[in-house]
Amino acid sequence: MASPSRKIGRAWPNWALAILGLVTVTTAACTFASPGQPSGMAERSRWGTSAVFTPAHATAGDAIAAFFDSRPDTVAQPFDFSHQIHLGKGAVCTDCHTGVEQGPRAGIPTVNTCMICHSQIATDRPLIIKLAEMQEKGLDLAWNRVYDYQPQAHVRFNHAPHVRAEVACSTCHGNQAEQTVARRAVDMNMAFCVNCHKAKQVSNDCLTCHY
Ligand code: HEC
Ligand code: HEC
Ligand code: HEC
Ligand code: HEC
Ligand code: HEC
Repeated sequence: MASPSRKIGRAWPNWALAILGLVTVTTAACTFASPGQPSGMAERSRWGTSAVFTPAHATAGDAIAAFFDSRPDTVAQPFDFSHQIHLGKGAVCTDCHTGVEQGPRAGIPTVNTCMICHSQIATDRPLIIKLAEMQEKGLDLAWNRVYDYQPQAHVRFNHAPHVRAEVACSTCHGNQAEQTVARRAVDMNMAFCVNCHKAKQVSNDCLTCHY
């Protein structure tokens, strides 16, 4: 977890860090300066329609939390799912994350995907009975996202080229076989991405990773 590339400041020169900090603080100040606006809506509409990339945050709290990188590593989920059990029984990532080799998104499995196996496997266990009932009623599990970026960071990511280039899932997500529900095992900040792109001579143009 404490990889040497954890903080933007290590890979970025001080002037760049200073500008980033200044922009963040200015954004926070603007939000404070508009009391009575519902949770930073003015910020969003002011920046949101611009074609120019900005690091604006919806609220001062978001800006401060992002600046100090304070997101928790664990995420509560609606179902007692275990990667460890499934990978231990020989399941592979693409059984459930069916999009990961083809395009940008890996995809999170639906109850129907679970039931491809569980209409046959472990059908007598309470949790599997619950899954079968959900499928019957047409219900799905509302998984909470673990690795995602704030929309205002405007990050563009694509799994397929990384899988083709044989970058292991564990490089970016840690060892999934040791996790029950996924946790944020790797801090994929900008320096993390940029350092590898530099090492592998992949484009570090801003628009490679931002829209
Ligand atoms: C180079 C880093 C990297 C590698 C390698 C990588 N991922 Fe990801 N993964 C990400 C990032 C970044 C996100 C968040 C993207 C976003 O939300 O914009 C993500 C998101 C996900 C998600 C959430 C759902 C989705 O559709 O995006 C799943 C599931 C996932 N990855 C599975 C995998 C699997 C399985 C592999 C290996 C086959 C893998 N990842 C390899 C960086 C990586
Ligand atoms: C590729 C096949 C496959 C898929 C897809 C699959 N599972 Fe499983 N699952 C298994 C196997 C194999 C076991 C181990 C059964 C055993 O203990 O013998 C298991 C075990 C479980 C258990 C533990 C049951 C218990 O109480 O011991 C739960 C819960 C579970 N799966 C939920 C899910 C959910 C939720 C999904 C969809 C997100 C899912 N599974 C998708 C194959 C699969
Ligand atoms: C049996 C189905 C199954 C298999 C096999 C599986 N996953 Fe998952 N994965 C899930 C489910 C369900 C979730 C949503 C719950 C959670 O976040 O753990 C998930 C979530 C994730 C996430 C978090 C996505 C996000 O950003 O919200 C990552 C990363 C991930 N899986 C990586 C992997 C990798 C890497 C492998 C192979 C080594 C793998 N998974 C194998 C079912 C599976
Ligand atoms: C461990 C190395 C590694 C890391 C970490 C990494 N990348 Fe990459 N990335 C690559 C390689 C290698 C390619 C080029 C594959 C190819 O040539 O097709 C690539 C390609 C890409 C592409 C496609 C570029 C194109 O021209 O099609 C995007 C977008 C991208 N990476 C974004 C990211 C983002 C965002 C992150 C951080 C979340 C990240 N990468 C982290 C190695 C990495
Ligand atoms: C290899 C991918 C990659 C490249 C190239 C890249 N970025 Fe980023 N950048 C990211 C990722 C990923 C994040 C989100 C980090 C996070 O939320 O922890 C980010 C975040 C940022 C942020 C902070 C946004 C916020 O508030 O969260 C700024 C500002 C930024 N990038 C500017 C740039 C500029 C300017 C360039 C071109 C010089 C650039 N980036 C090139 C991947 C990249």
